[in-house]
Parts: sequence; C-alpha cells; structure tokens
Amino acid sequence: MSVFAARRQRFLEALGQGVAILPTRPHAVRSHDVEHPYRFDSDFWYLTGFGEPDAVAVFVPGRAEGSFILFVSPRDPEREVWTGRRAGVEGAVARFGADEAHSIEDLDKVLPDLIRGQQRVWFPWGRDAAWDQRVRSWVDTLRGKARMGITPPSEMVDPLPILHEMRLFKEAAEIGLMRRAADIAAEAHLSAMRAAAPGAHEYQLQATLEYVFRLRGSQGPSYHPICGSGANACILHYNENDAVLRDGDLVLIDAGCEVEGYASDITRAFPVNGKFSPAQRAAYDVVLAAQHAAIARCVPGIAFDDVHGAALDVLVEGLVDLGILAGDPAELKATGAFRPYYMHRTSHWLGLDVHDVGSYRQGGASRTLKPGMVLTVEPGLYLAAGTPGLDARWHDIGIRIEDDILVTETGPDNLTAGVTTDPDAIEAWMAAGPEPALSLR
Ligand code: GLY
Ligand code: MN
Ligand code: MN
Repeated sequence: MSVFAARRQRFLEALGQGVAILPTRPHAVRSHDVEHPYRFDSDFWYLTGFGEPDAVAVFVPGRAEGSFILFVSPRDPEREVWTGRRAGVEGAVARFGADEAHSIEDLDKVLPDLIRGQQRVWFPWGRDAAWDQRVRSWVDTLRGKARMGITPPSEMVDPLPILHEMRLFKEAAEIGLMRRAADIAAEAHLSAMRAAAPGAHEYQLQATLEYVFRLRGSQGPSYHPICGSGANACILHYNENDAVLRDGDLVLIDAGCEVEGYASDITRAFPVNGKFSPAQRAAYDVVLAAQHAAIARCVPGIAFDDVHGAALDVLVEGLVDLGILAGDPAELKATGAFRPYYMHRTSHWLGLDVHDVGSYRQGGASRTLKPGMVLTVEPGLYLAAGTPGLDARWHDIGIRIEDDILVTETGPDNLTAGVTTDPDAIEAWMAAGPEPALSLR
C-alpha cells in the first residue's frame, strides 16, 4: 500500500490544484446474465490498488480533511454471499489508505460538495458518454447555486496525460511484478513447445499455456493467446486456435500472462515436428537477426522509432538475401516494398496494459528511451501463400519473435530471456519430448 500512497502523492503534486475524479471500470457482460471475469481499470488501480468494481477515486490536492477520497460498494452480508467479499467503506479507509470513504450510492450527493470552490475539474473526458454527463451534472448543480455566491469550476482538464507519463516509467515494485509475469509466460512457452506434435490441435497449445499461467500463480492471459500454425501464423491476431498442427509446418505462439495487473507479451515460432526446414530456418535467422539488432538499440538516448528502424533494416536486407525481394534495400524501404511481408511496427510500451499507455512522441519527434521504460521488440516475416510473386518454397512461413525489454542505465534487460529464441536451442529443447505431466503434488 505504501507504493500506491507514494504514487498518489506524486500525482497530487503534479495536479497542483482542483479536484480529480477517476472511476474504475464496470463489469462487462459476456452473454445474457453472465459476466466476463472482472478486470479493474488500470489507471484507477495504479493509484489505489483497489480491485473491486463500482468504485470512484477522488483526489483533491491540499484538502485539509485529506486528499484521497474513495467511493466503494458498502458492506452487505446478504449480497456478499452471492457476489463476493467487499472491503466496504471501513475497509477503504483501514486497508486502502483513503482519508475518507463513502458508499458509491452517495456519489451524486457528495461530489458537488467536493467540487465546490474548485476552479478545475480533472476527469478523463470523452471515454464514456454517461460518465461525462454525470460529472457535468455535478458541475451544473454548482452553476445553479451561482446566486448563492458559489463560483462553479471553469476548467475541465483530462488528468490522463499526467498519469500516463507516470505509468510509462516503471518503479522497482512494478518491475518485480513484470519479471514474474515474464518468467511465468516464458515457462508456459517452453511447455507449449514440448507439447507440440503433428496431429495435435492449436487449442491444445493454448490449453498448455493457460494451464501454466494459472499453475504458477498468474491471474491468467494478458490477451487472448494466439496459436497459429501454417497459414494461420501469417494472420497477425489469429484467434480461432482450432486447426490441426501439420508435420512440416511452423507454429507461431503469441501469448503472455498477467501478474497483479502487469502484462508479459511473448512470441515464439517453432517447427511442429521439432526440426526447422531449410527455408523456415533461413527466414527465422533473418527475423532473429532483426530482433537482436533492435534489442541492441533499447538503450537510453535512442529514439523509440530507431528500434523499429534497426529491425526494418535487417528485415529488408534479409528479404533481398533470401531472394524474396530484389533491388536496393534503401529503396525497398523507402517505397514500402517490404510491406506484404512486414506490415506492423516493431515495438509498443508494456505495463499494466499489454499495449501500455504513454506517448510515443514528444515535441513533434519520436521520444527518447530512458531507464525504467519497458517495451516489446517483435519483428516478424509473414510469407503468406497468397502473396503475388512469392516462390512456393516460402509459402505459409509466419515468424514473429517477441521479447519484453526493460531499458536500464547499463543497457537492455530482456525480461523474457527465459524462453530461448535460438533455433538450435529450440530444436534441442523440443527433442527432449513432451514434459512429464506437471504435477500438483
Ligand atoms: N500480443 C499483441 C502484441 O504482440 O502486440
Ligand atoms: Mn506485443
Ligand atoms: Mn504479442
């Protein structure tokens, strides 16, 4: 809780004045009366550590009675029998460090009083129309009292740019959780590699991954696992995972897990039968060289876009060496001739969200990497059978290699190095055969 308290302190200082209102995320309906498993709002969690739905945090810098106010579901033993335990108003103060707490049912009653006398209302405007309307109604309540000498707030400002800049730089506690998410996902990928065999199904790889995620204490996947074999590996966000693994095909797994909200995000590509064909190996070596070049650029002072640039240079030169593209690499880069084979960017921020918050540009330019940032490095080549002019020997080779990199003073720290990317090491690992059933004893 001291970690959250320290963050709130920094957030309050950055706000300086006004009142900031931050609701968490509501339950999402899966179908009829069944809900998706609940996942809190990342921004709300970052400042509160409070994981229940139906809660609102309010921050008032300099408020004499205390700056951190929580609105939560009140204790209700009868409801809790059905829907689970609640911290309640008392718990919000005692366990979550709120200076003051109220029932969420009193939100409309209490909020105008908290806004009263403030010039600025900080709220993530434009995300949810119903919430925008609700916050406006509180401001309108104060406008209606102008004759009583109350000055309503005149500035409506989004606090998320401040918050997201904070979230971009990971603290020691966050890095610890990200390492655990990375370690568990790495183990899951290793298990899935050994589980693969011709005749098995893609969903069985998914099952292996998800089993290890939960077995090792992660809350579950940080996004729907992608397990695509053969032509399916060339679909970037393939998610059916229902095909049979065929002898001679590659399979691409893009899967990560979540630990206390923090994501890992790993991709590996490997041969279903445990042995790369010469064509698969040639393409794989190009992607791996691109990834190494890009990871080497994950150091303080380098522009975010240069990580992508480094990968792209190697990929385009590799496509020429493989004979898939012909011409001058610089020109092929400039004209975008590589795009049928590489159509996405190389990196994104990683943290409480798999595509994490934080701006990618600053002052009109690509922003500079600094210690504490975590980004993925995930170059790929997608040699889909339908691509005009592509020789049949490359057909349906889909490769992406993705690791999670912490930028440090002393260079790139690869959080996901626990699962090898080396093709010889992958073959040796797979040759050892299926793992003995993971025992709970
Ligand atoms: N798994 C989504 C991504 O790699 O960005
Ligand atoms: Mn990614
Ligand atoms: Mn991924």
